[in-house]
Amino acid sequence: MAAPDTLRTDDWWRDAAIYQVYPRSFADGDGDGTGDLAGVRARLPYLAELGVDAIWFTPWYASPLVDGGYDVADYRTIDPAFGTLAEAEKLIAEARDLGLRVIIDIVPNHVSDQHAWFRAALAAGPGSPERARFHFRPGRGENGELPPNDWPSQFSGNTWTRVPDGEWYLHLFTPEQPDLNWSHPDVRREHEEVLRFWFERGVAGVRIDSAALLTKDPELRDFIDGVDPHPYIDQDDIHDIYRSWRAIADEYGGVFVGEVWLPDPERFARYLRPDELHTAFNFNFLTCPWEADRLRRTIDDTLAEHAPVGAPATWVLCNHDVTRTVTRYGRDDTGFDFAKKRFGTRTDPTLGTRRARAAALLTLALPGSVYLYQGEELGLPEADIPRDRIQDPMHFRSGGTDPGRDGCRVPIPWEAEAPAYGFGTDPGREPWLPQPDDWARYAVDRQAADPGSMLTLYRTALELRRTEAGFGDGPLGWLPSPEGVLAFARAEGLLCVANLSGDPVPLPPHTDILLASDELPAHGTIPPDTAVWLRT
Ligand code: NOJ
Repeated sequence: MAAPDTLRTDDWWRDAAIYQVYPRSFADGDGDGTGDLAGVRARLPYLAELGVDAIWFTPWYASPLVDGGYDVADYRTIDPAFGTLAEAEKLIAEARDLGLRVIIDIVPNHVSDQHAWFRAALAAGPGSPERARFHFRPGRGENGELPPNDWPSQFSGNTWTRVPDGEWYLHLFTPEQPDLNWSHPDVRREHEEVLRFWFERGVAGVRIDSAALLTKDPELRDFIDGVDPHPYIDQDDIHDIYRSWRAIADEYGGVFVGEVWLPDPERFARYLRPDELHTAFNFNFLTCPWEADRLRRTIDDTLAEHAPVGAPATWVLCNHDVTRTVTRYGRDDTGFDFAKKRFGTRTDPTLGTRRARAAALLTLALPGSVYLYQGEELGLPEADIPRDRIQDPMHFRSGGTDPGRDGCRVPIPWEAEAPAYGFGTDPGREPWLPQPDDWARYAVDRQAADPGSMLTLYRTALELRRTEAGFGDGPLGWLPSPEGVLAFARAEGLLCVANLSGDPVPLPPHTDILLASDELPAHGTIPPDTAVWLRT
């Protein structure tokens, strides 16, 4: 179990293992088929035993759940489907008693169309101060029938919706997620108050959704690819916002992790300057194919881009938006690209699982913090959701070609023999997304008793990472290795070797084998798609 005294270190976030909970699908404590805070509270001991340091909750606020809660109607209320504010406060305290910090999710780019501000804006009409908090504009064309500009959406489809009085409003995601106008002082003030509201309630950190999208080109000029800077991604003035947020976080000892998807390493690192965000998700690593040379380059680039600003790297294999690792690594194309998601992509789950096990040891040995997404520790594959049960707007906005993200959001199997695999407390209640028929084998109770399971691998690896010297923040040095093999040394003689080649390779000289992702043959080799931790 994580020792509560780990809560005392100020720089815990530099090498933490952080577990992402998608509340709707984690555990259903009131038997209505939807996960909730009661479910999480009942399962906190599981997370402590797993050996993580913190829990990041995707949005749990009042929301119509059009985009899984990333359409927030009220930041100061918990959605009734999930529980109450008092319960969230209890959860934060109970987690702390078990040595687990809580990170919440703030979605500053947009709100729900049911948010009081947007409802007031619609009611108040064109030119009103209420509309100034959003991006309302007249349309183009003779009668204003065309959208005000040509901006591409972050989901496919339109970025402007016309309201009955003829004006249009901007939404980079769905029409139910109107974008806020970040040059408006109310927007800044409100978010600063929301941060304080949650820091006062004891949260240790904040994940910032769509962190590079907040500020827009002041004239909302058209997007001319490759000519001018992008009109809404990574505007220079965005950093002022994060500087003021950082001052607030520092008052409370809170930390930030930004969702920053930017290919340019120098632009990415700007978000991590010492007076801005503490960390940002490493999506280059997440999207990288399972190929040794490309992974090595990504690791080197990551460390090089973080070094000048002194920020620790983060390592992420999956989250609630991307195809689950086991499925991705079993495909011909082992990388990840939103634009390429299609139904029926062939995968070899045995191969994918073997690689995901090796990837777990590789990731947990790298310098910095790591994020685990619920079910990753169980080796859950991406589920096929019947088309008539899909809920994700990404699917509908693609015209039905993109399967969407529900396949990685399926309720967790806790007990092999129980109805809905023990997800809920009401045996007669079906979970909000269907669980595949063959998931008993992934259930927590079954895996907990199996020394060869993914869960046992994660538990053991997280424990070693916490108790053995050399893991976490600090230097990494590459070792000479055969082609297709990643071999590096950390401090204190700790080595990690991952064999991504198609052939067995010899184990380097060592004094101890700490852990291997699969069984090692007696004759001192590492089989393909296997990783080991050694001590020299
Ligand atoms: C990123 C979140 O991870 C995703 O789930 C959401 O749909 C978009 N941001 C919009 O908030």
